[in-house]
Amino acid sequence: MKKFLCVLSAVIIAGTAVFGSVGSAESTVSAVTYTAKAKTTKTKTTAQKFDTKITASEVVSQMQVGYNIGNGLDAYGSNDLSSETSWSHAKITKEYVDALKKKGFKTIRIPVTWYNHLDSNYNIDSKWLDRVKEVVDYAIDDDTYVIINMHHDNSIYDIEKCLKSTKDYSAVEKRYTKVWKQIAAKFKGYDEHLIFESMNEPRIEGSANEWSGGTKQERNVINKLNSAFVKTIRATKGNNTYRFLMIPGYAASSSDASLNDVKIPDDKRIIFSVHAYSPYFFAFDENASSTFSKSDENQLLSFFETLNNKFVKKGIPVVIGEMGCINKNNTAERVKWAKFYTENAAKYNITCIWWDNNAFGTGSENFGMVDRKTGKFKYPEIAKALIEGSERN
Ligand code: GLC
Repeated sequence: MKKFLCVLSAVIIAGTAVFGSVGSAESTVSAVTYTAKAKTTKTKTTAQKFDTKITASEVVSQMQVGYNIGNGLDAYGSNDLSSETSWSHAKITKEYVDALKKKGFKTIRIPVTWYNHLDSNYNIDSKWLDRVKEVVDYAIDDDTYVIINMHHDNSIYDIEKCLKSTKDYSAVEKRYTKVWKQIAAKFKGYDEHLIFESMNEPRIEGSANEWSGGTKQERNVINKLNSAFVKTIRATKGNNTYRFLMIPGYAASSSDASLNDVKIPDDKRIIFSVHAYSPYFFAFDENASSTFSKSDENQLLSFFETLNNKFVKKGIPVVIGEMGCINKNNTAERVKWAKFYTENAAKYNITCIWWDNNAFGTGSENFGMVDRKTGKFKYPEIAKALIEGSERN
């Protein structure tokens, strides 16, 4: 279950893990041909040419505002295709993805968990990879940006094991990059709309500093794995030579400890990724205030300024890959929060991606906004605020 350790004044913290019940250089542009299996039988075949001129900041500007399809392909209730519905009880459909696009979301983050779909040699079950591709294509077909990652996969990128010995580190890096190689090969021909994110919230689960940025050694390991990830993806060539890559720090945490030690790999197409269900008490703690206060506003402002100083100003664009506030029967306050959050992030060209897990009660972890079965928006006013706030000048 979700755990939180408050950093200092407990202001801003990355949220996390719960589950639920609830080409090339040589321009090979090996064009992928894909068929989107929409129920609408919209069938499209596309040869994808990567726009090699577009910069990471320009891409982030175009990504504008996004939506997470959480507790879907990241759920791990089984090791076959039924894992997708093991938490949310709703399969992802083309209609659902279309509804997000139609509303105005320009980026879809598709968290994916892999460890339960691997054989003992770390080969990905081809049926799983095909299903991931099918969902990616739902969104690519809509001309949205798409992010895929390694989500609840701390057992693949096992930081604790990495720290044991050089040999252990090498074993982890080997399997981690082996899995990424297979994913990268599958999506090699996709253009700049598809982004890979190295890890979700890499951390040692249950450790003392799990939610406060980890230890120096743990952060170093994450830097090394991020760098191995970048090298691995680039080595797969094709459009992966140019692909935009997102990397998080420890636990994707917004704590200073984590942010200060992030090493951005030497590569022009990196986007820094961080999670911020902030301010924590308003956004995440079911027992705390349901009113978005002036002090909450100030905490957000100082957080965005930090991201600007540490990354954006230095030429590294930022995506807040997960943000959201739980339902406390306080829709008007959530709308205020959504507008304030995205509007102020947009000032630094920071793109925000709402976390939706198809959970609609009140309190803890209830981030649902759109009914995954019908594609109907239950909180259209929050969506509107997120979208309007994110518009770039
Ligand atoms: C994390 C978890 C996800 C959880 C979310 C909010 O990214 O991976 O499962 O629901 O944070 O807690």
